[in-house]
Amino acid sequence: MPTRILIVGAGAIGAFYGSRLACAANTTVSALCRSNFKAVRDHGFKVTSPNYGEQVFKPEYVFSSPEDARKAGVKWDYLLVATKALPDVSDDSALIEGLVSDGTSIILVQNGLGVEEPYKKRFPKAAVLSAVTIASAAQPSHGVIKHNRWTRISIGPYLPHLDQGGSGSKPDDKAVIDSNKKIVYLLQEVGIKDAESYSHAGLQFVRWHKIAINAAMNPSSVLSGGLGNQEMSLDPEISRHLTGVMNEVLETAPKVLGKPLPPKLATVEQLLNSTRKNSSGSKPSMWLDWEKGARMELEVILGNPIRLARQKGCEMPRLQSMYALLKAAQENRDKAKGSSRL
Ligand SMILES: NC(=O)c1ccc[n+]([C@@H]2O[C@H](COP(=O)([O-])OP(=O)(O)OC[C@H]3O[C@@H](n4cnc5c(N)ncnc54)[C@H](OP(=O)(O)O)[C@@H]3O)[C@@H](O)[C@H]2O)c1
Ligand SMILES: *[C@@H]1O[C@H](CO)[C@@H](O)[C@H](O)[C@H]1NC(C)=O
Ligand SMILES: *[C@@H]1O[C@H](CO)[C@@H](O)[C@H](O)[C@H]1NC(C)=O
Ligand SMILES: *[C@@H]1O[C@H](CO)[C@@H](O)[C@H](O)[C@H]1NC(C)=O
Repeated sequence: MPTRILIVGAGAIGAFYGSRLACAANTTVSALCRSNFKAVRDHGFKVTSPNYGEQVFKPEYVFSSPEDARKAGVKWDYLLVATKALPDVSDDSALIEGLVSDGTSIILVQNGLGVEEPYKKRFPKAAVLSAVTIASAAQPSHGVIKHNRWTRISIGPYLPHLDQGGSGSKPDDKAVIDSNKKIVYLLQEVGIKDAESYSHAGLQFVRWHKIAINAAMNPSSVLSGGLGNQEMSLDPEISRHLTGVMNEVLETAPKVLGKPLPPKLATVEQLLNSTRKNSSGSKPSMWLDWEKGARMELEVILGNPIRLARQKGCEMPRLQSMYALLKAAQENRDKAKGSSRL
């Protein structure tokens, strides 16, 4: 029996990692699609990458809807969820209802904080793995995936009962940790050399650390009318603002997680220095979403960090201002469009 993987939300990131995993021995990869269904069913994904060249990735099954996937009756080893995390629009944990059986692991490859909770709540017995990637990829047209740069993906078992004030380890934890190691090993085997396995606590620090970058760059790009990361980091006033946001996030993370920041994570100065040198010219995803009138990942990048901090009695005033104003701007935009959704 091969290892069976289903990509749930086969867009830029899902199809990129799916195309890699499809190269592993004794492994099959399928795709649950939406708007790109017909293109992918007929032609598969065409993936180009500076690291792996050109590849046509034909999923074992291509599903048009969750119902379609349920009818296939496959026992999945991994459900790799890579939809945009938009809890204010939809609870995507409902998509995989009926696809989770004994031994199924759910890997969430999504930006932001708090993305795991709806899955853990709906599937308390399933192994939930939490993943953060810095890869940059896009889907310029249906089924065409352009991997731009970087491959690193950090994955850890989501075991919130190990947090401070939790109940301590449980007998099932080992299976979750083993499943985490197995998917990291599979990714390494197919050339993702910087796939890394983390502990539960370690991965949550990686999430907060990525929030320092995303909460600084993404909303600021929208509020500045579409500046790229390098332009913002070179503007003296915006650069002060970015430093303030990043410091706010990195100072809050240890208070929420109850442990000091691991020393190996890049400092604010290092992050901004490398952004100043980064002339890739590309724009943060939140700006791209805003520009095309799509929903932005405001809740998981700004709202959830603010709420997690508040639960510990901390405020995040820089994030809070951006969150309140951008959320209102998004609502007003959608009201003007006559629809609250895409
Ligand atoms: N792209 C990057 O470079 C990058 C880098 C790091 C992290 N991330 C994170 O990775 C996550 C995915 O981002 P992405 O850029 O890959 O987004 P994306 O290209 O928009 O891919 C998401 C895919 O999920 C599909 N989807 C959404 N709801 C669905 C549903 N109900 N049923 C079936 N399919 C559904 C979308 O279909 P439709 O086309 O129909 O909407 C789309 O194909 C986000 O959290 C993002 O922040 C992205
Ligand atoms: C394929 O993987 C399964 C586990 O998913 C394992 O039980 C089986 O032995 C493997 N087969 C081969 C030929 O490696
Ligand atoms: C960042 O860049 C400035 C100006 O080039 C330099 O003085 C400083 O040492 C750099 N800091 C780090 C941490 O690299
Ligand atoms: C360079 O810029 C791109 C696009 O804005 C971004 O995704 C990436 O993380 C940046 N790299 C570094 C090292 O800061």
